[in-house]
Order: sequence, then structure tokens, then C-alpha cells
Amino acid sequence: MGVTAVLGECARIFTHPRMIFKLAQRELNVDISTDAYIDENRNIEQTIRADERFYLELLVIQAADEEPSTHKIEMYFITYCRKLSHNREASTGPDWRDDRQWIPGINMDNGYFQMHEYQAPAWAQHLNHIPSHIVKLTTLNTPIHRWSLPGVPDRFQVFIKRDDLSGAELSGSKVRILQFLFAEALRQNARHVVTGGCLQSNHCRSVALTCRQFGLTPHIVVARVSKKEELEAKGNALLYRLAGSHLYLSPTCSYESFSQRLRSLAGYISDKYREPCYCIPLGGSSPPGMFAFITLFQELIEQGLFDNFDDIVVSIATGCTAAGIAVGNYLTGSKLRIHAVSIALSKEELTKRIDLMLSDIGLSLGTNDIMDIIDGYIGQGYETITNVSANTGILLDPYYTGKGTQGLLEELKKNPTTFQGKKILFIHTGGKFGLFNGEMDQVMNLPGNHANYINEWPEKDIPLVQ
Ligand SMILES: Cc1ncc(COP(=O)(O)O)c(C=O)c1O
Repeated sequence: MGVTAVLGECARIFTHPRMIFKLAQRELNVDISTDAYIDENRNIEQTIRADERFYLELLVIQAADEEPSTHKIEMYFITYCRKLSHNREASTGPDWRDDRQWIPGINMDNGYFQMHEYQAPAWAQHLNHIPSHIVKLTTLNTPIHRWSLPGVPDRFQVFIKRDDLSGAELSGSKVRILQFLFAEALRQNARHVVTGGCLQSNHCRSVALTCRQFGLTPHIVVARVSKKEELEAKGNALLYRLAGSHLYLSPTCSYESFSQRLRSLAGYISDKYREPCYCIPLGGSSPPGMFAFITLFQELIEQGLFDNFDDIVVSIATGCTAAGIAVGNYLTGSKLRIHAVSIALSKEELTKRIDLMLSDIGLSLGTNDIMDIIDGYIGQGYETITNVSANTGILLDPYYTGKGTQGLLEELKKNPTTFQGKKILFIHTGGKFGLFNGEMDQVMNLPGNHANYINEWPEKDIPLVQ
């Protein structure tokens, strides 16, 4: 196949055939004899595939300006081989166990970045759009523990599922979705990924960093920002910018036209670069996204959900997380009640969107049959954040879990009868980098802040030791 021809071309260009064959054998794990090189080299133009040619050209461009040292040629060539090897695996279907070398510096024994066939839980196997593959990006199962939230009425006990601990820079529940979407992107041989969200989007941060970990180029559409000067380098924005994302500013527009922008940009990128580009919808909200949370529900079952809890509470924005959990709850015939605290949209708007998601995966159910959407907690939950961190050591974020926790606390007091029982499980969906959005300076200095215990040094009482 073309690999040999490309190697031949490299050999011709760099005039180090023996070294190149040796490297190729190590990197691509292919057996290439000098004879094969000569044979293929006769027809070199015909045998180099378009994508291989592209990388080869890159390689040549990189080396063209200089008299490359042997070491540099080696480095260019290794990069090239890894891309080629990655492409071959992605286009011929996965046997990723044999493809361990292609991400440098990462210990593959723990399964990270490996692709597997996905098995939906038995109770979900009749649904539509079951993803075929999953690639590991998270540390699961995330723990569950008791949470001594201040202000919980005595008749309730609150527990917390720590999905914020699913990883470090790739953390939070949303990374569960990316495990499916990136598997699909790689299987489609994508070289670019387009997605979008608000300036402090956790989703955009995770997509951008995952892209770079897979050697793909991230393209991020930033909603509600129309001038360069409005772009911050704080919190999540700092992290997706550190990932070298290509940024596209989008003025305020409707959800539908923003989604349309993402799709149009993906078309534009693949035409411009002549390479496949994978488009991830806003917040990863999609049928595979639902399966991420159907799988989360199975994880909860394995962690003793049915024996230990009566209600689940989670924050809701696009609806994907809560909908997946509620579908799991419904299909398993569980007696738990699912409460979703809306942090942005009205109950009416969410209901419409989730109804569509449910019919997409083949369920003719209404949203309100399977979950309790609570709205009215759209304001920022800074007071809850400082109170909770100062009392329990758990960090919440200003956009999702802060508001979700505030909603939980107030509902336990105002509407206790909407809860099924006394043991409540709150799902911490992550988002901690939002805490570094630059607004906390002011919050911390507000009078009466729960997390402010500032003391003058008590010189009289604690003399300095001589
Ligand atoms: C940390 C965090 N929690 C919760 C959510 C809400 O999830 P969903 O959009 O699936 O409703 C998001 C969405 O981006 C998030 O980033």
C-alpha cells in the first residue's frame, strides 16, 4: 500500500533510507524491505494517497528551510508516522490495542485513549442511536459520599456523586459525552473538530484539550462575543485558548442559529483544509450524549443506588445530562425521583427540547413523565458557593453546580413533599474552572462573606519567638 511509497519518498528526499526504514518498522510496525521500496518507488505518484501526501508535504515543508540534522529528520518522521498510523487505524476500523505508540509519553496500560466497542446496559439496548464505540477519557467510577450541606432540614440526608473527580483538565460529567463523540470523530478520520459555547464553557475547554491530546485541531465558536477585546484569558477560556484553539466570535443569536453556525463552520473547515471535520453540537447535547448518562445511571446502580437513595438532584442546561439519567430511571422501573434544577432556560423551553431528545432515541414519553424540572434558580449562586466550600470543602461552580445546590437547599425547605424520600443524591457535574472566571475577587471581599475569616496578626497574644 501507499505507506511503503511514502517511506520511499521520504527516503529519496532525506537520503537516509536505512534510518527511515528502521524508524518505520518501529513506529508503524510494518515490515518494509528495500526491494519493496524500489518497486513502489517506480510508481510513486500513483501510490501515495491524498492524506498521506498531505503529511508528506508538511514534512517536506518543515524540513525545507534548513539543512536538517539527523535528529530533526527523525523527529519529523516519527510525527508523520504517528499521524499515518492513526489514520490507518481510524479508517480501517479499530484495533486500538495495537496502536499504543501513537500518543507519545502516555502510559497506555491504564486504558486511556483506547477505543472499545460500546455495550449499552441491557435495559437500554432497544433504544435508537446507540453509539458503536467509546474511547476512554475519564477515571470512573466516580465516588459517592455523604455531604454535610449546611441548611439541610433534619429530615433529609444529602449525598454527593463526585463526577467533578472524573479527571483533571478533562473533568466533569460532560467528558462522559466526549468519550462517545471523540470515538466517532476518530472513526470518521476527522482531523478537525468544531464546537461552540459561551466564553466560560466547560464543554469547549474539554473539547479543545481532548482534540490536542488526539492530535486534532479544535475550532471553537464563542457565543455572545463580537469583539476580540472581549475575549478573556480566565477560567475555561484560558484553558481552551491554551489548547491553541482556532476561535470564531459569534454575536448573540438564537440557539437554532448558533447550532446552524457550528454546522456551517464545520463544512467550511473541511472544504478549506480538505480534511474531515467533526461537528459537536452545543454542550455535546446529542443522542450519543444521552447514552453517556444512561451509562452513568448504570454506574449508579452498580454503586447501590436502589438500596441507598430516594431522589437524585442535578443541574440542567441543555437537558442532556438530566434526560439520560431520567431515561435510566424510567427504563429500569426504579422508584427514585429525578429533579433537575434549571440554571438557564424555562421549564417550558426545556420540556420542548427534552421531548425531542426522547423521541430521537425512540421513546414516546413526555419529559414531565420522567423528571421534575425546577426553574427559578437562574441567578448566580455565589453565596451558596462560598458557604458550601467553607463548610464542606466541596468546590462548586458559579454557572451550574452552585445554582443547582442552591435550588436543592431551597426546595428541601420550600417544597419538601416533592421529594420521594429522605436520602437525596446530588450529582456534582464538575465545572470548577468556572470559579476562576475573575469574578471571585469581588465576591470574596463582600461584607458577610461566609468564607472570610481575616484576622490582624495578634501581636500581643502571640509574640514572635526570639
Ligand atoms: C459543569 C456542568 N454541569 C451541568 C451542565 C448541564 O448539563 P446539560 O447541558 O446536559 O443539561 C453543564 C453543561 O455544560 C456543565 O458544564
